Amino acid sequence: MKDHSVKLAILKNLSLGGFHSGEELGEQFGISRAAVSKHIQGIQLWGVDIFRVQGKGYQLAQPLQLLDEAILDQQKRASGLSTPIELIPIIESTNQHLLDKVHQLESGAVCLAEYQSKGRGRRGREWVSPFGSNLYLSMFWRLDAGMAAAMGLSLVVGVAIVEALEQLGVNGVKLKWPNDLYFQDRKLAGILVEMSGQAGGAANLVIGTGMNLQMSPATQGITQPWASLSDVIADSTLESATDFALDRNELAITLINTLKTTLEQYELNGMAGFVERWNRLDNYLGRPIKLIMGPREVVGIARGINEQGAILIETSVEEQQTESKIEAFIGGEISLRSA
Ligand code: ATP
Ligand code: BTN
Repeated sequence: MKDHSVKLAILKNLSLGGFHSGEELGEQFGISRAAVSKHIQGIQLWGVDIFRVQGKGYQLAQPLQLLDEAILDQQKRASGLSTPIELIPIIESTNQHLLDKVHQLESGAVCLAEYQSKGRGRRGREWVSPFGSNLYLSMFWRLDAGMAAAMGLSLVVGVAIVEALEQLGVNGVKLKWPNDLYFQDRKLAGILVEMSGQAGGAANLVIGTGMNLQMSPATQGITQPWASLSDVIADSTLESATDFALDRNELAITLINTLKTTLEQYELNGMAGFVERWNRLDNYLGRPIKLIMGPREVVGIARGINEQGAILIETSVEEQQTESKIEAFIGGEISLRSA
């Protein structure tokens, strides 16, 4: 594994604010100015915007608040959370990391990262994961109810995350079936639930979420409109939201706590009560949508979900549109779009 310790130490210095000269950084880490410059280039490839002013040195274009093991640990203890949390700043994919070692994990174990070089979305798509500006979080869960309950679980996770944001004073975030978080019709966060075999009847699940917090508008490689939590907060009338939103450590702990509690609840009660909770947050409820299932498309009005976690669509059966019927659709290969 590549050692990123010098780059991370340089970033820690830069995150304190102000200018840091190549000479100062070089001296601190016992390397040449040319080596510092090389490390800075590497850091820029992680998606961090750093500029250099002749005679002054390097500075971050935007302030950076790093995830910090000591702060995470302290906040974890303060909230009575006993879950193991692994912080691996530079990783290929937090989901893959947990999938690789499911047999050594207890339910609730978490992996957090600052940057993913191979972050992935549903159906093998790329999840763009620049350093430090977002949240990349995966949790392992052994689901005794087995694979069949995994679909419901992924919907429940979306509800849990939006409700956690609401509790923190951030309003206006909605859900796009099956489990994307949207703000003003732009994607704020995605959820990817992956499975690693079955042990007896139980399913080994890794639940990954990527949430944009303060992603640079210049970020490349995202094919659809997206938003950051900072946009939601800027739009929020609640001033109290501002402080926490910039505290990535606290946000991570809040989400881990909520996820764990919600998964425990789901194990006990299944989808009971979640249909209403999901429908309240449905970004498309009552709106015209299109479902794409391979070559087939269904156009109609979104009517929320049912207890199986299927999306309900009201379609017209006659040309005159005098009669309509509500159909349920379920499955991993369906894409929803505005009609
Ligand atoms: P569907 O699954 O319904 O087709 P989708 O188009 O959102 O929805 P997903 O596979 O769920 O597709 O998610 C991957 C999508 O997310 C891709 O369109 C990708 O461009 C986009 N994406 C990648 N990284 C980010 C990010 N950091 N923020 C927002 N969107 C992103
Ligand atoms: C999607 O909308 O397609 C799901 C995106 C899920 C991204 C998260 S980021 C943390 C975890 N690790 C990954 O590689 N993917 C998930």
